[in-house]
Amino acid sequence: MTKLEIIKKTIEYVKSKSEGEGSGHDWWHIFRVWNNAKLISKGENSDQFIVELGALLHDIADYKFNKGDEEIGGKVSKEWLKDLNVEDKDIVAVVHIVNNVSFKSEANNKIKSLEGKIVQDADRLDAIGAIGIARCFAYGGYKGHSIYDPNIKPNLNMTKEEYKSQKGTQINHFYEKLLLLKDLMNTQTAKEIAKERHEFMEKYLEEFFAEWEDRK
Ligand code: NI
Repeated sequence: MTKLEIIKKTIEYVKSKSEGEGSGHDWWHIFRVWNNAKLISKGENSDQFIVELGALLHDIADYKFNKGDEEIGGKVSKEWLKDLNVEDKDIVAVVHIVNNVSFKSEANNKIKSLEGKIVQDADRLDAIGAIGIARCFAYGGYKGHSIYDPNIKPNLNMTKEEYKSQKGTQINHFYEKLLLLKDLMNTQTAKEIAKERHEFMEKYLEEFFAEWEDRK
């Protein structure tokens, strides 16, 4: 099977798995991350095949939906790629991305490969800006979180466990995660895209609080 055929088959596989996903991790999230990863990789000397497979499979079995098993995505990806007879070294590279791309806390960031850094940037870009805002509230609805509660303050020093079991509000999530992402981008291309998206989120929050505090 050619690399192109492997990518095409993986697209169909991921589409079938992510259909009807209502928490902001649907096929169109994967599609945007895949496209952003391709865009970012143009400025980097990276292995395109690994970048694309990593992007397509990065949420295949996200820990948030599998009772905290952080390795499940890697296992599922490995089985899938083995079935397609992908070379072992390529499988190892993709599994590294799938198992480590997710933001828990920056201290726990274990992404080592350039291809992984590219996919991580692409995933983070989809968490900010106008799309990031939409996904933030979609995820909050899925988890049963409030939009905002003035009595609950953001927790800026969350441990990994607190992050995973968080009961906060979605507006707090901007301060706890989304507004931090622009400074965590690995690549120059992602840094530039992130700047604009970050400014949009700041404007959004300004407007949100102006409306909240308007008692007229
Ligand atoms: Ni993702």
